[in-house]
Amino acid sequence: MTIGIGVDIIAISRMRDTLETSGKVFMDKVFTPWEQQRAETHPDTVAYVAMTFAAKEAIFKTFGIGWHFGVQMTEIEVKEGEYGEPIPVLTGRFAELAAERGVSRVLLSLSYDGDYAVAVAALSGGQ
Ligand SMILES: CC(C)(COP(=O)(O)OP(=O)(O)OC[C@H]1O[C@@H](n2cnc3c(N)ncnc32)[C@H](O)[C@@H]1OP(=O)(O)O)[C@@H](O)C(=O)NCCC(=O)NCCS
Repeated sequence: MTIGIGVDIIAISRMRDTLETSGKVFMDKVFTPWEQQRAETHPDTVAYVAMTFAAKEAIFKTFGIGWHFGVQMTEIEVKEGEYGEPIPVLTGRFAELAAERGVSRVLLSLSYDGDYAVAVAALSGGQ
């Protein structure tokens, strides 16, 4: 059963500006240590950051919530599987909300080309 869906698109050039003006603060606020390390080793760091930020926004949207729920962007971690497929992992308040809603799986698909990075996410659960 689908519990929620979310989509997001990010202009990579805008992300480049953000990283130039507030790189460390932004990275610490949004990305886990593992993601920050992955950003450094990725062949296109800015595209990776834009795509992963889009992933977090898309997953945020699947819940249809606001900041007053006490969630943080670092409670969504986008890991990578054996073949490079994104594997989202929820922790903290996001994990609690997922449990409350009967979410058994977070699905995520990412892409980037030219100046844009996009993410589509879905929450599934139940039968
Ligand atoms: C809710 C949120 C994800 C929307 O993302 P966005 O990139 O600003 O907005 P987009 O242009 O991609 O999409 C906007 C649409 O998303 C939908 N939307 C708005 N709030 C939503 C929510 N809480 N949940 C699901 N969908 C939402 C609406 O249809 C909205 O259209 P509208 O603005 O015409 O009403 C974003 O505002 C947010 O709160 N993000 C988390 C906080 C964050 O990223 N902080 C920055 C850390 S430094």
